[in-house]
Amino acid sequence: MKQITHSFDYQIFDSHLELPVSDQELLEKAKEAIAGSYAPYSHYHVGAAVKLANGQIVTGSNQENMSFPAGLCAERVAVFAAMANFPGVPVDAIAISAVSDDFEVSEPVPPCGICRQAIVEFEMKFNNKIRIILGGKTGKVFVFHGMGNLLPLAFHEKGLAK
Ligand code: THU
Repeated sequence: MKQITHSFDYQIFDSHLELPVSDQELLEKAKEAIAGSYAPYSHYHVGAAVKLANGQIVTGSNQENMSFPAGLCAERVAVFAAMANFPGVPVDAIAISAVSDDFEVSEPVPPCGICRQAIVEFEMKFNNKIRIILGGKTGKVFVFHGMGNLLPLAFHEKGLAK
């Protein structure tokens, strides 16, 4: 038997104003994308902004549906739109933010497990670590370098990725 311990790293910034300018700009785009959220059921509005290696920024927001499981998170809307419009261009970074109609979102919003799996696919595909910038409406910002810090042991099957 062998015991393996994994650790993960991230940075905490007290305010978005402490971030490098390019991260501030991407987080701002994620916040702007919240305007496109369709969340009549959860009243929780999420925005995501993906920065590609060619400098393009593609945004998305959560889209809910009366048939609840049909809805999609902001991160997957953004990353799939980016890949659909710029196939073959690596993903450099993604910023995520959220607001609620019912309460204050003052903590950074981490992507759900399904979105982590969706995002890590493109990190592996392009062999290019993704920077993940997480912020609430105000307050602290978390920055991760590489999806391994959010999803260790992600599902990956070489036989399927031909
Ligand atoms: N949501 C996202 O857009 N991203 C996440 O990572 C977690 C949750 C959305 C899904 C749903 O529309 C609402 O937030 C409440 O769960």
